[in-house]
Formats: sequence, structure tokens, C-alpha cells
Amino acid sequence: MNNLPNHVAIIMDGNGRWATERGLKRSEGHKEGAKTLEKLAIYAKDKGIKVLSVYAFSTDNFKRSAEEVNYLMDLFIVYFKEKFDKVIKNNVKIVFSGRKDNLRKDVLEAMDSVTKRTQNNDGCLLNICFNYGGKEEIVDVALKLAKELQNNKISEKEVNKDNFYKYLYQELPPIDLLIRTGKEQRLSNFMLYQASYAELYFTDTYFPDFDELCLDKALDFYQKRDRRFGNVKKV
Ligand code: FPP
Repeated sequence: MNNLPNHVAIIMDGNGRWATERGLKRSEGHKEGAKTLEKLAIYAKDKGIKVLSVYAFSTDNFKRSAEEVNYLMDLFIVYFKEKFDKVIKNNVKIVFSGRKDNLRKDVLEAMDSVTKRTQNNDGCLLNICFNYGGKEEIVDVALKLAKELQNNKISEKEVNKDNFYKYLYQELPPIDLLIRTGKEQRLSNFMLYQASYAELYFTDTYFPDFDELCLDKALDFYQKRDRRFGNVKKV
């Protein structure tokens, strides 16, 4: 495929509505969503996409009921410990972006173990945004930079929009294509710095139904975009 995006990001929305519309519990939607992510990660690797970032749990998702938060945390543990085995065998490297505070010890351990198990994989990087907020990430960078400047570890000249990536939770290329499933058209505090020039693709499809063909459609959309980055079209 020509002109493949390096970095694709997905706001995986609509798990709850997918379930409710079928008369199921919301948790069933999350379970199906996790299966969808498993398939997409392998497909992204097969296609040659370098980085896939996904919004798994935002800092604001803690506002949900304790029952739903606990269900999600238990589901994440099962995936990080066992169910990502196929993804791992497919040479996908898993990293996390987000704050570590507020997370249960068993969740932190499962995150740590999957990170270690995949550290030598080099097929596709799956960046799981977990206890993540875009504004929080920028604030965390500001604090890190302030400390480094104060301790003369870096100079002011070294603080610029390219070097800034080194201070984010993960040093990744900018997002080329940002997909949001599930009918809404907003960023919801997701990767605000990295998405500054992303092409935005919104679809009504709920995340559990967002299969490989749907991803292909989003990639087709991306290939038709004329990316000018503030410049004018060359004729
Ligand atoms: C949005 O649906 C999804 C989430 C809050 C995150 C859950 C994501 C997964 C379970 C898939 C990822 C899995 C792993 C293993 C990382 P929603 O609940 O906001 O849906 P709604 O808007 O329809 O209520």
C-alpha cells in the first residue's frame, strides 16, 4: 500500500452502546472491544504500520461506576497476562502511556510483565494509553522540563517542538491518522500534542464492529488526503 501512515491512533468508542443495543451488559461490549483490538493489532503489523496507539482508559474514566472500572481493570489484566499471547507471537511490542498513580498493584504488575515480555519485538508498536490524559501528559512534560532546566541538565535552546517528543510518555512519531469510532466527533483529551497534524477519521461504527475491513476504509481515506502542514499545494 502506498503512502501508509506511520502512526495510526484509535479512540475506541462505543463498546457500551454496542452492548446496550443488543440487550447485553456494558461489560460484554468491553469484552468484544478487547477482541477487536487483538485483531487490529495483528492486522496493523501485517500491513506494516509502525505504531498503533489506542485509548484504553482515560484519567476521566475513573468517574464511571466502581463496578465498571473494576470489570475493565480485571479484563485488562487477563489480556496483558494471557490473551495477548497471539499478538505477542505476531511480533507486536507493547508499551503504555499514562500516569501510574491510582492504578491497582495487580494492574501495574500485569502492565510491567507484558512490557517486559514484548520488549524485543519489533513488528509494530502497540502504545496503550492507560490512565491517560492529553493535558495531563503535557503538564507532566512541563514539570520534567522545569526540573531539568533548574538542574542545568538541559538548556533553554534544547526546549523546542521537536525535542518535546522526547519528554512525552513515549517518544513516538506524530500521529498521521486518528480514528474515532462510535459516532462522536471529538478528541476527548487524547494525544493532543501528537495529533496536531493528524488526519481525522470519524465513523459511526461501534468499536467492537470495527474490523480489518473498516481499518482498510480508514487507510483509503488517509491516502486521499492532501497533507500540506501549513504549506500550499505544489503545482
Ligand atoms: C469505550 O467504550 C471504551 C473504553 C472506555 C475502553 C475499553 C476498551 C477496551 C475494552 C478495548 C481495549 C482492550 C484492551 C485489552 C487494552 P465506552 O464504554 O465509552 O462506550 P459508550 O460510549 O458506548 O458507553
